[in-house]
Order: sequence, then structure tokens, then C-alpha cells
Amino acid sequence: MLRDINLGYAALLAIPGLFVSLFLIRAIKKFFYDLRVKKAGGIHAPAPFNNNPIKGIKFILGSAEAQSKNQMLAHLNKNIDDYATIACPNCIEMNITGGQRQFITREPEHVKAVLTGKFADYGKGPQFHELWSPFLGDSIFTTDNKQWSDSRGLIRPMFAKNRISDLETFERRTQVMLGLFPPAGEVFDVMAFFYRLTIDITTEFLMGEGIGSLENPRGEFVEAFEEVQKIQTYLTIAGPLHRFYSRTSYNRGIKKIDDFILPFVRKALALPQDELQKLSRSERSFTFLHSLALFTRDPKVIRDQIIAVLLAGRDTTAATLSWTFYELSHYPEIYAKLRAEVLATLGENGTPTYDDLKNMKYLRNTVNETLRLYPAVPFNIRCALADTTLPTGGGPNGDLPLTVLKDDFIIYSTLALQRRKDLYPPVSEKFADPNVFSPERWENWHPKAWTYVPFNGGPRICIGQNFALAEVSYVVARMVQKYERMEYVGDWAAQEYKTEIVGCPEKGVRVRFFEPGSKAQ
Ligand code: HEM
Repeated sequence: MLRDINLGYAALLAIPGLFVSLFLIRAIKKFFYDLRVKKAGGIHAPAPFNNNPIKGIKFILGSAEAQSKNQMLAHLNKNIDDYATIACPNCIEMNITGGQRQFITREPEHVKAVLTGKFADYGKGPQFHELWSPFLGDSIFTTDNKQWSDSRGLIRPMFAKNRISDLETFERRTQVMLGLFPPAGEVFDVMAFFYRLTIDITTEFLMGEGIGSLENPRGEFVEAFEEVQKIQTYLTIAGPLHRFYSRTSYNRGIKKIDDFILPFVRKALALPQDELQKLSRSERSFTFLHSLALFTRDPKVIRDQIIAVLLAGRDTTAATLSWTFYELSHYPEIYAKLRAEVLATLGENGTPTYDDLKNMKYLRNTVNETLRLYPAVPFNIRCALADTTLPTGGGPNGDLPLTVLKDDFIIYSTLALQRRKDLYPPVSEKFADPNVFSPERWENWHPKAWTYVPFNGGPRICIGQNFALAEVSYVVARMVQKYERMEYVGDWAAQEYKTEIVGCPEKGVRVRFFEPGSKAQ
């Protein structure tokens, strides 16, 4: 009994002691860190939380809460607006641990520097690699320098024009999807179908066989893939607090993903090299998996690249399709104009070629406009690989570079950037309010460099960009060709932007489609 009481007292004394020690350690770390910043140039962005770690932790907890309530864009904009200055209106910095800063930016010049001008100074970095490697291993997504460029070189041939202009898979899987839609006039969530469609297309593209998720919606693999992505987003947002997050469900999900993928990998590895060489000369049956097996006999290397491209290719296109139809459902006149262009090009039953897709201008404008309002990767992160700078925002006039130290993070939001009203021309007859979906604006306007970057830019630009645009345009064209019109069901304006790794409509896209001649219910 006496021992229990003593232990209780000891714990009571230890907790404040622990906090005091942590604050002390942080203060010492920050003292030396600030000296390094001073030596490297000493120019800061507005730094509301640097001298108050409690406020910094509150910011992180606020971010987690905003994430869970689908309010991430508003949270980020509010913090920048509240603390930024006239000299540096679009970027703030914070130093929570004392020894590392996070810059949060929506400034095109910063994004340009990180992705191209100072490409060698910024990368995914060792911490991102460590945090993401259980899921994406040493793939194109998690590595830098030679490891990254080797991956990119390995993957590039699979996106050559002759490969991605083969639209046969898009047609086959789109027809399966359309065949599974409920009869015209019935309400359903079209977004759920898009996620099933794009995982089937991407797995077929990668491994030669689709996983048949349209026919068998709730496969274990898909559920695990979604769960792991969700937890990975939280781990990333948690920053230095990620160690306190339970990994049980995450690890279980990764095991399920591996159990699913590895048999495909082993099957490709079982093929002798000369068989693989022979396949490589045939365009159709040589898959991404074969191409990887030709390069390496290591199942882990193959597994990592497959999962990375699957992640890159599936949700991005499904979310873009979902937002496109979400917006189209609200604007019958845009839907009608788009359909008129598709019918004029393809007739009532024709299938589009790659060139048709490129030449249908209104279709292209519609997809561009969707990606302007809803860039599929709304938030992104880079780590400084060396002491460096961000080009603007420093000094009394904001024209001096901000000092960035090795291991600092840059969190940039293409979503916040692309929604900055000050980056657009004034509203006029030809240019609708930038908050409004208007494919027409693209007829007379071209975004200034680095103000429209849904696929990012520079050496790490999305390697699947043309594949993605072809896939989205293909599905949109076939759907508007078939259905004369559509309606959104529910409160259109109440939709929320769920921003996980990829951003999608939180409430799904519940709609009904009508074929020519069918009546409204
Ligand atoms: C609308 C659809 C898509 C959008 C908006 C999109 C956007 C992006 C963005 C923003 C990045 C940069 C990520 C980063 O560096 O952190 C990226 C990278 C990448 N994307 Fe896409 N993507 C789309 C579709 C696809 C598709 C369909 C594929 C493949 C089938 C793909 C494959 C990749 C790969 C492999 C990378 C990594 C490139 C690298 O690090 O060098 N993407 N994508």
C-alpha cells in the first residue's frame, strides 16, 4: 500500500519534470538552430508559433481536427491569412521541435523553386522515406537522387505514346461499368463506380490482369489499400507526433496488400529472362510487371513500384472523374454543350481515338477546369536536402529569399494556390468568378506559369499525366454520349472536400442519369 502511494507521488512529480525537461531540451535545440539560420542568411517567413511550442502543438492538433472534418483548405488558409504579412502574404513557418521548421506555402514562386529551380535542394527526404516506406518501400514516390531517377527511367517506357494511346482497356472496362449502372432514372453513387473502374484499369495496365473490382466490389485488397492510405495521411499530418499513432490496423492492411500483390510478382519472376525478352517485343502482352521483372529479380523492388503506381493512378483519376460529374450535374447547359461536342465528333455509338480525345476542345476544357478547382493531390510536401532558400517573401518588401535549412519541410498546397483569387484576371463576361466551375474560361485564357499545377512540374512532374487525361476524357466522353442529361440528388452545395492523399467528394456523387427519350421521375 505504502509503496503504491509512493509510486503515485513519484509519477505526479515525474510528469511536470518531464515537461520541464522537454521544454528545456527544445529551448536549447532552438537556440542552436536559430544560430544556424542566422549564419545562413537569417531571413524568416512570418513565424507565429516559433516562440510558443504549445501554440505549435495546438496547430497540429487543429490540423488533425480540420482533416477529420474535411476543413483542411479553410484551416490552412485561415492560418496563413491570420499570420502572414504584406511582405509575405502566402507563406508562414513554424518550429515546433526546436530543431526543424515547416514552411506552409501557397505561393507559385515557392512551388516553382521547390519543383524545378532548386530541384536538387529539395526532395522527399529521409523522414518521408521512413514514414512511408512500410507502404511504398523504395519506390519512385519515396526516394530521391539516383534511386528516384533509376525508378523514373524504369517506369518511363511504360508511358510511351504508343502504349497509352491503346484505349482498348478503357473501352472494355467502361462498358462493364456502364452495364452495371442501375437503369436510367435511378439514383446511385457514381463515385463508387469510378473507384472500382480505375483500380481495374490501373491493375490491368500494370499487371496485365484487372482485379475485377467492378464485378466484385468489396475485395479485401481494396479495403486494405484504402485503410492504409487513410492512416498514412494521418501519420503525415501528425508530423513529429506520428510515433504516438497506433500502427495495428496499418500493419494489418499492409500485410493484406502484400498477400495480394506478391503472387503476381512471383508469377512474373517465374518467367525465364529469354521469355521476358521475347514478350518485350510484343506491345500488347508486355506489362509493367514484365518490364520490372526484366530489370530486377528482387520481388520487393517490383512490389514497391507496382504499389506506388497503383496509388498514383487509381484514386487520382477516380476523384477527377467524380468531381467532373459532380460539377456537370449542377450545370445542365455545360453538360449539353459537352454532349453536343462529343456527338458531333463520335456520333451516337462511335468510340474515341486518342486524337479525338485531344481534339475535343470543350472536353479538354472541362477536364482542365475540374483539375483547376480540384487538383487531385491537394497538399504536398518536400524536404530541404541542403541549406537553401525559397525565392520570395523575405525582407520588408518580400523580395528577399527566405532562409531554409537542411531537413526543413515545405508543405505546399496546389489546392490553396489554384484557388487564390488574386492570381486570376478580374471577373468579366468572358471570365467567371474563379470559385465557379466554368470550362468556358479556358477559351480565352491560359494560366500563368506555375499558377496551374495539378500534375506538378519540373523533373518530378506526374509521369502518368497523358495516360490520366486520356483515361478521364475517355470515360467522360463515353458517358455523356450515352446519357442525354443527369441530375444531382441531395444538397449539391453541402458537398465537402475530403483531403486525404488524394482529394475526393466526401459525400460521394449521388446522381441519376437519363438516356435520350427517358423521362424524369
Ligand atoms: C488526374 C490524374 C492525376 C493527377 C492529378 C496526378 C498528379 C500527380 C502529382 C501532383 C504528382 C507529384 C507527386 C509528388 O511528386 O509528390 C504525381 C506523380 C506521379 N504520378 Fe500522377 N497524377 C494523376 C494520374 C496518374 C496516373 C494515372 C498515373 C499512372 C498510371 C500516375 C503516375 C504517377 C507517378 C508514377 C508519379 C511519381 C513521379 C515521380 O516522382 O517522378 N499519375 N502525379
